[in-house]
Amino acid sequence: MNNVDARVERILQAASWAPSVYNTQPWQVDVTGSLLTLRADPSRQLRHSDPQGREMLISCGAFLFNARAAARRESLVAVARVLPDPDDEHLVAEVSLEPGSDPSSDELELSVAITRRSTSREPFADEPLPTDVLAAIQAAAHTEGARLRLIQPSDPVRQEVTGLVRRAEELAAEDPAARAEEEAWTAITADRHDGIPQGLLGPVPDSDDAPVRHFLAGQGSAHFEQRSTMAVLATPGDSPRDWVAAGQALEHALLTGTTYFVRASFATTVLENPTTRHDLRRALSLDSFPQMLMRLGTSAAQEHAPRRSVDDLATAGGPGGDDRSRDTSS
Ligand SMILES: Cc1cc2nc3c(=O)[nH]c(=O)nc-3n(C[C@H](O)[C@H](O)[C@H](O)COP(=O)(O)O)c2cc1C
Repeated sequence: MNNVDARVERILQAASWAPSVYNTQPWQVDVTGSLLTLRADPSRQLRHSDPQGREMLISCGAFLFNARAAARRESLVAVARVLPDPDDEHLVAEVSLEPGSDPSSDELELSVAITRRSTSREPFADEPLPTDVLAAIQAAAHTEGARLRLIQPSDPVRQEVTGLVRRAEELAAEDPAARAEEEAWTAITADRHDGIPQGLLGPVPDSDDAPVRHFLAGQGSAHFEQRSTMAVLATPGDSPRDWVAAGQALEHALLTGTTYFVRASFATTVLENPTTRHDLRRALSLDSFPQMLMRLGTSAAQEHAPRRSVDDLATAGGPGGDDRSRDTSS
């Protein structure tokens, strides 16, 4: 994509560090002047494990939040109009980059966290996180219209939750289509710019009570901590719009955690299976809908999974597409 305003390019580059299911990076962006049109890329959807595109849209929502945070670093404000658009099935959001004030120190910190954040699949330090840190992470999710229900080690429901995670993992392991999708997106070859490299899959826990995904190509086993905080991100509804909100809330919460050196790992097989998702919702007595299950803790930083280039994820289009630098200048 030639000739794009350098700031737009930096914003898209930062946005692409968003978490996505199996690092599928299921997003594409059309850039027309200062208008970014974000669409989901159905060719990157997990057709079997994610038939509704729920995880695809959560991933796109995380991308959208990064774009908003990265825009502030450029003294721009990303004003987003989120789907639906009956005429454009895969539209996630139209984002207008408008001149703004200089970023506050909090906004700057959040944007710096984008490249510091990565998923951890290693054991965490075996200690609870400070309550004020957890409160800040919860508040970040709340700002985006979602709720983060913590499941502390003493919570009586914790065992039931880890049991459901295991049950969902067992069912997926017996499902050839789910296995095939996992194989297509994990232990990737070095020339790929998506998927999860084998070295990042993490060890298999040596007990059944650690809520981490057991990857087929996971290497070795390890003893996982008992006292980390688990959390379920939930939204009031369960529509595509809620899934985009969940993604924005997820990334806002994760980046806020990153500013406190808190890292996250996920175990979402339990939410891909409608039965275990329903059971999890009931076990936690949620009136909202669970979208992500994670554990939060501290561990050494891990390498990044690879990313597609901006040229690969973005296209320049529409009238005014040749005159991009003028539109975002303040
Ligand atoms: C909707 C969604 C579901 C995910 N589920 C899992 C999971 O079950 N297990 C896991 O280890 N990581 C999971 N992840 C994390 C992705 O694998 C990770 O974001 C991706 O590989 C990119 O790596 P990074 O987060 O380190 O940048 C999920 C991420 C999203 C957005």
